[in-house]
Amino acid sequence: MSSWNRRTFLKYSAGSAIGTVALGWLAGCQGESVDSGQPTPARDEAGTPLTAEAVLGANAPGDFVPAQGLAEPVFLVITEGPAVAGYGLSAVCSHRQCVVDWDAAAQQFVCPCHDSRFDTTGAVAQGPATEPLGLVSVITTDEQILLSNEPPAESPQG
Ligand code: FES
Repeated sequence: MSSWNRRTFLKYSAGSAIGTVALGWLAGCQGESVDSGQPTPARDEAGTPLTAEAVLGANAPGDFVPAQGLAEPVFLVITEGPAVAGYGLSAVCSHRQCVVDWDAAAQQFVCPCHDSRFDTTGAVAQGPATEPLGLVSVITTDEQILLSNEPPAESPQG
């Protein structure tokens, strides 16, 4: 199970080993909430800070890498180079705020709640959502990857 959906996790996996991991992930998301607009280090689901070296070593262009650090979970975007894009996609569905999953086979983000789908840019591919996934700023340095709620300087459209 790879869904980040809070309600789905709480309903179906509480008490299981997966549920324990999932609840830890969700707790981490909430505990690390930063809404001030100040950049905050991107972390994996275990809370380990993400570095470009590690992310690019384990992923390829076209991959989307889950990250936490802001109030909402996000996906880092791996572009040609490879490189970490200067923007990230919010993992929170614009319909009713469930957490979407990346479906690599379909090349879409899929919401487990009402089946909205979003393309690789975050645009709505299928409702009921009518708004795209949100964008966050991603700043990559030699030492770390930082997330911010400020509007990104670059976008999925270039
Ligand atoms: S919350 Fe995502 S489709 Fe309804």
